[in-house]
Amino acid sequence: MQVEKLAPHVGVEVTGIDLASIAGADLEALKDLVFGAGVAVLRDQTLTPEDHIALAERWGGIDINNYFPLQDEYPEIAIVGKRADQETNIGGGWHTDHSYDQVPAMGSILVARTLPPSGGDTMFIHMGEAYDSLDDETKAEIEDLAAFHTADHIYSPEGVYAQTDQGSELRGQALKTGATHPVVIRHPRTGRRLLYVNPAFTINIVGRTREESLPLLQKLYAAAMNPDLQGRVQWRDGTVAIWDNRTTWHFACNDYQGYAREMHRITLSGEALAA
Ligand code: OGA
Ligand code: MN
Repeated sequence: MQVEKLAPHVGVEVTGIDLASIAGADLEALKDLVFGAGVAVLRDQTLTPEDHIALAERWGGIDINNYFPLQDEYPEIAIVGKRADQETNIGGGWHTDHSYDQVPAMGSILVARTLPPSGGDTMFIHMGEAYDSLDDETKAEIEDLAAFHTADHIYSPEGVYAQTDQGSELRGQALKTGATHPVVIRHPRTGRRLLYVNPAFTINIVGRTREESLPLLQKLYAAAMNPDLQGRVQWRDGTVAIWDNRTTWHFACNDYQGYAREMHRITLSGEALAA
């Protein structure tokens, strides 16, 4: 297994691995890379849907996403797609997946199935680097805070996607979600301190209204959105990305209007988060 950086502060590109058969020590090494660097990119993979599911099961189990359309024959696989005639994409803002769950998903294995001729990159930020970049005063201010997360304003019938041309594709619009997590978590495997709030799903600091919370949340988001901390995955046929939702945020670029893009996502089960 050979490892190169994807960008100075986030991600790795891994070669010499066949995801269809990886197991044992190689799989453990790949997990450590994902936990630490936040995202691993693997090229020239030939994963069938069965291989994709088997890899996720070997990794540690599958969480079924409640909202995205599922692959007909394989309900473990969610379709993250945009047709040529749609304008809105899925994930087109900085976020981390499933932070609205009590036990958020560890991450995802995303496989490129249909790509636009150019564009459609996915950007990542390392939330440990984002935390480290805060000044001491801000670190002290957020040390013991918790925040409330929900997806209701995104996926409900009045929510963000319902107002767009993605609305009719989504499932689970009647679901209610909500979870409280520390603003700074310790990564369950690496022990690294990570900023764990995000602009998509975090509503307020516990004990404060949304309005009272916004100045602090905006300050944390602005620190995290530092372009110097970002890396980008440029997809090609055969590219697979595996990311850690605790270690990173991600953002799906929507710069390919008029072309279709379809990704197959399996969401990997996570574990409880603590400060
Ligand atoms: C996701 C997501 C990014 C992309 O699957 O959670 O945000 O580039 N996808 O499709
Ligand atoms: Mn996402």
